[in-house]
Amino acid sequence: MEPCFPIDTKGHPIILVGLMGCGKTTIGKELSRMTGMPLIDMDAIIEEQIGKSISAIFRDEGENHFRALETALLRYIEKTVGTEKGSVIISTGGGVVIKPVNRELLRRIGFTVWLNVDVDTLLERTARSDNRPLLQTPNRREILEKLHRERTPLYAEAAHLKLDSSNISVRDTIPLVHEAALEFFA
Ligand code: S3P
Repeated sequence: MEPCFPIDTKGHPIILVGLMGCGKTTIGKELSRMTGMPLIDMDAIIEEQIGKSISAIFRDEGENHFRALETALLRYIEKTVGTEKGSVIISTGGGVVIKPVNRELLRRIGFTVWLNVDVDTLLERTARSDNRPLLQTPNRREILEKLHRERTPLYAEAAHLKLDSSNISVRDTIPLVHEAALEFFA
């Protein structure tokens, strides 16, 4: 079936940012289906291009190398902005906002939505995850609390919109992002 809910983004991406478990991938997939805009899952593309899992990249090359790959991918995406290829949904990795250059790119190239979710919800949603190197620790709560504290100002700087979605299901968040994007690009 044809996508029934297109958004004319004039060649700009809709970008989802937020901590691990906030719902970026699920929301990205559904928005992609609704709008017909292809989904770029940054983690998946990096894994495919490098031929290794994110965990293996962290282990073999280190986190800094992974962060450099994220910047390179954003710069590649930047080149498509304004063309038909630029109309994509981007699901980012949770740490994409760490580097100032990435925050600047995220704000400049598209409509960036920060899915802000509290630590309890993140803990629930990442409980069965074994593919996230930063959560391979017995004290996940401490780590998530620290990341939440440290990254809150960084997401705030990178994003055009903060969506507090701790008390809303991932499913119910989807139309809110869709509507906000329609407004942003109107
Ligand atoms: C990371 C989040 C992960 C992935 C990597 C690092 C982070 O992506 O990019 O494990 O620093 O928060 P998700 O947010 O999609 O889990």
